[in-house]
Amino acid sequence: MTVYEAKQKILELKKEKDICILAHSYESRDIVEVADYTGDSYKLSVDASKVTNKNIVFAGVHFMAQTAKMLSPDKHVYMPNTAAGCEMAEQMDVELLAGMKAKEPDRTVVAYINTTAELKTLCDICVTSSSAVKIVSSIPDKKILFIPDCNLGAFVQKACPDKDIMLFNGGCPAHQRATRQDAVDAKAAHPDALLLVHPECRPAVTELADYVGSTSGIMNFAKNSDNKEFIIGTELSIAEHLQYECPDKRFWLLTKNIICPNMRMTTLMDVFNICNEIGTDAAADREILMSDELIAKAKVCIDRMIELGG
Ligand code: 13P
Ligand code: SF4
Repeated sequence: MTVYEAKQKILELKKEKDICILAHSYESRDIVEVADYTGDSYKLSVDASKVTNKNIVFAGVHFMAQTAKMLSPDKHVYMPNTAAGCEMAEQMDVELLAGMKAKEPDRTVVAYINTTAELKTLCDICVTSSSAVKIVSSIPDKKILFIPDCNLGAFVQKACPDKDIMLFNGGCPAHQRATRQDAVDAKAAHPDALLLVHPECRPAVTELADYVGSTSGIMNFAKNSDNKEFIIGTELSIAEHLQYECPDKRFWLLTKNIICPNMRMTTLMDVFNICNEIGTDAAADREILMSDELIAKAKVCIDRMIELGG
């Protein structure tokens, strides 16, 4: 089967089997092109809560598919490739967080959405990279425990100086590879370019940026800007998508080291296979299953995020 044929077949299968495809912006061009909704993790959470189809195929990483399931519990949610996890989401377990909470009982636990559903049951409110500053500044709580990303947490602390934010020493291994020197070198090599970075990058990088935002934020900024050149400080796929969508602009990489192997794991053929197998026993191993109790407990902090983040 050619790529074109696979795409055509996926479009037919979507109609035939009442499937909605959600794809994070880090997914490949082929996958983004067959998706019904694409964007950052906040946008996809809101989109997932509104899906009317019987089946959702989520091309992204595990915590994102779990979030979609929590927001659409009556739908069947499938991952095309269940090996795609988020390294940051696995950095904290329930025991570790319970221990931190016991030592800091008066702190509100703000969790980056890049956490497991089990961990979310212990958290007060979720945030995404696009909503973190808005949400933390809008809650009355002053004393906060921010988990697990210390870089996003530091970015929020800078934007909300009246808050007392305790950080956990976690983060995205891919974004942490970008260094201040990378930013200095890229700006020197491309003096007319604006530096756009994700808040998962280290403070030494974000403080040199012209814009700091989520994947959708970076894409929208570059598309709407009158500037013609940009240095992109997030997963390499975003520079690739932007170059495709804005052929008259130039996109440079902050570094070639921000690669998320998990986001690259899902292929167009994985998407075709799951669409083809939905409705048969063969798809069962890729369906996201969660108990009603886990959904009820973990969803509370996601609902609060959507209430405050829109
Ligand atoms: P977004 O909020 O931009 O979707 O970020 C999610 C993510 O995992 C980035 O590494
Ligand atoms: Fe997780 Fe980092 Fe990959 Fe985002 S880029 S999914 S935070 S490992």
